[in-house]
Amino acid sequence: MSLRAKLTLGTATAASLLLLAGTALAAEPGAPGIGDPYYPGAGNGGYDVSHYDIRLNYQPADDRLSGTTTILARTTQDLSRFNLDFVLRAGSVRVNNKVAQFSQSGGELVVDPRGTLRRGTELTIVVTYADVPSSRAVDGFTAWKRTPDGALAIDEPDIAPWWFPANNHPTDKATFDVSVAVPTGVEVLSNGLFGGTTQQINGWTRWRYRSATPQATYLAFIAIGQFEVRQSTDAAGRPVINAYSEQLGANYGAAVASVERTPEVVEFLEQSFGPYPFEALGGVVTPGIGFALENQTRPTYDTGFFRRGSNTYVVAHELAHQWFGDAVSVERWRDIWLNEGFASYAEFLWSEYLGEGTAQENADYLYALYPADSPFWQVLPGDPGAANQFDAAVYDRGALAVHALRVEIGDEAFFALLKRWVAKYRNSHASIEDFIALAEEVSGQQLDELFQTWLFTPAKPAAAPGAQAAV
Ligand code: ARG
Ligand code: ZN
Repeated sequence: MSLRAKLTLGTATAASLLLLAGTALAAEPGAPGIGDPYYPGAGNGGYDVSHYDIRLNYQPADDRLSGTTTILARTTQDLSRFNLDFVLRAGSVRVNNKVAQFSQSGGELVVDPRGTLRRGTELTIVVTYADVPSSRAVDGFTAWKRTPDGALAIDEPDIAPWWFPANNHPTDKATFDVSVAVPTGVEVLSNGLFGGTTQQINGWTRWRYRSATPQATYLAFIAIGQFEVRQSTDAAGRPVINAYSEQLGANYGAAVASVERTPEVVEFLEQSFGPYPFEALGGVVTPGIGFALENQTRPTYDTGFFRRGSNTYVVAHELAHQWFGDAVSVERWRDIWLNEGFASYAEFLWSEYLGEGTAQENADYLYALYPADSPFWQVLPGDPGAANQFDAAVYDRGALAVHALRVEIGDEAFFALLKRWVAKYRNSHASIEDFIALAEEVSGQQLDELFQTWLFTPAKPAAAPGAQAAV
């Protein structure tokens, strides 16, 4: 090598070192989305949240919500500014006690800390706000719901931006303290452990809850209104809180007959999925949502589920989500089969427990229900698209896919797989690809074709799972 070449090389090396140093110095804005193809604005880049402290006041009479959310986070890059997902009008933002500048549009709160935040910095972000949540829409949609006697912050995939500023994506889980002050006589329900109530000097009552196990932002909820609240403990000593809306009327008995069986359902599911992953349990029955949702530790059920008498299937479904969806979160919303396919399959197992039909009979029934030319078979459970995230195919074909896997690998490998899956990814997130890999590892079988057929092919599979080959 010539001296000249050596010098050039030496110079180049020094230059690239300088360049590297330069890159490290140039702080950049955090991305406005975390990179979920279905929801480009969901979540944000540049930081990781560890805890939300949400302290609010709510007046049901005029839907006024006000208060403060304090976020503990750590930067994952040098940041010049960062986003939070939030639709309510913010009054002030402080970052590590310094007043920050901010702007809001389209569900994004852009925070300018007025100075670079170095990678690895611990942040304490304090956001104050006051607004009428039902008046705030993004793309014409408002997730916050008012009820005859209160309000509900309950929805999937997005609810957080209507009641607290968040890094709103299931891959950034955090612990929570939630407290809400309401006029005395109004009840407040939320996730996790109940911390009691206190009288405020203004005569209002503050209700406190704590989620000590990491929780996705869409699973954090509040239900405010007139509820009968029942407190007990299950056989394992965990606190059980169930709440029944005073709007239930004639459906009250059926709701109680279903939701009071929560500990029994949890015990049953533990046999298939392993230990219940959280420190508390229960359920909330309310009008005004039109669906049920697996809010962590305390699912919510629309009163309509109990119109025709007791319905423990919906309880089994939402409680199965505590393992599949809540403890193990989707990595991307495209992975929704990991939630709905397994929660729906739990209904097959529960049906067998009740003596109302075996899992195989449930699978045969659903397979026959949809004719080959039905649009049902065009939606791919493994990649349904944002518009079809909660399509019947994700649930019913999703459950058929789970049964097909069980039949293929046998009960021993199947139930070992379910327990391994939860143990491996609890308090975290995972993808369908992660599941396929673990299924192959546990069973020792090559399963590409099975998953291709049941999750990724826009056609009705040739035979029901477990069906004897037709002759
Ligand atoms: N994950 C819920 C369940 O099946 C469904 C939520 C549907 N969400 C909605 N906005 N409709 O248990
Ligand atoms: Zn579900």
